[in-house]
Amino acid sequence: MFTIIVKENTLEMASAAFEVLKEVLDKKPDAVLGLATGSSPIGLYKKMIEDHKLTGRSYKDVVTFNLDEYVHLDRNHSQSYYTFMKEHLFDFIDIDLKNVHIPNGNADDFDAEVMRYEEELSKFHVDVQVMGIGSNGHIGFNEPGTPFTATTHIEALKESTRNDNARFFASIDDVPTHAVTMGIASIMKAKKIILLASTSYKAKAIAAMIHGPVTEKCPASVLQNHPDVVVIVDKAAASLLADEGH
Ligand code: F6R
Repeated sequence: MFTIIVKENTLEMASAAFEVLKEVLDKKPDAVLGLATGSSPIGLYKKMIEDHKLTGRSYKDVVTFNLDEYVHLDRNHSQSYYTFMKEHLFDFIDIDLKNVHIPNGNADDFDAEVMRYEEELSKFHVDVQVMGIGSNGHIGFNEPGTPFTATTHIEALKESTRNDNARFFASIDDVPTHAVTMGIASIMKAKKIILLASTSYKAKAIAAMIHGPVTEKCPASVLQNHPDVVVIVDKAAASLLADEGH
């Protein structure tokens, strides 16, 4: 079930997302959070840091699982998702890095790594999963065509995704071709999902997720089968929704 919140700008989106997250953290200071990288959650992470400084809210008992990591990027590479999480969140809150889980993009044995990550994840129950959506409807790095039954696996990135992410690299050739990602089945186990999307570039994917058929061609459409998804969008991303007046 979707709860759709349409906001004026990314600042207001971040505040709305933080309100939802705060409700979970207030009740459960040792909550298990699913986290994402990319542009969409940055405002929310800023809010979390601000709140931590202002109220002293502690993250020392919080456990986190990130959705994905690029393959063949060392975790200390400037564009690894490990570096992203340190620079946008972990370095500014009191999280215990022992409780942080991000797939190892530089594993010697990727079969073992995907099994290890899924096994670790299965020991917990994600209370709230924060995520963005790809312009092609991907969630995590589950690209169109990925079976809904997939658990953590290696995914070949579509050219459109590599192009979308090229803005963070010196050239398209530097964008990794593969990622380790939580699967759709793993993501669907989260008790609650907060999905953030802004700009008209995401409008088609948001409309397909909410109104389109549930099909592996649009991985995010599977969320129609999830009991609690809070979709937080700006007006541009909401522009193709049937009832924009949410
Ligand atoms: C990132 C992730 C991706 C992004 C998506 C949107 O961890 O899993 O699915 O959420 O590609 O990226 P942005 O937010 O940069 O538009």
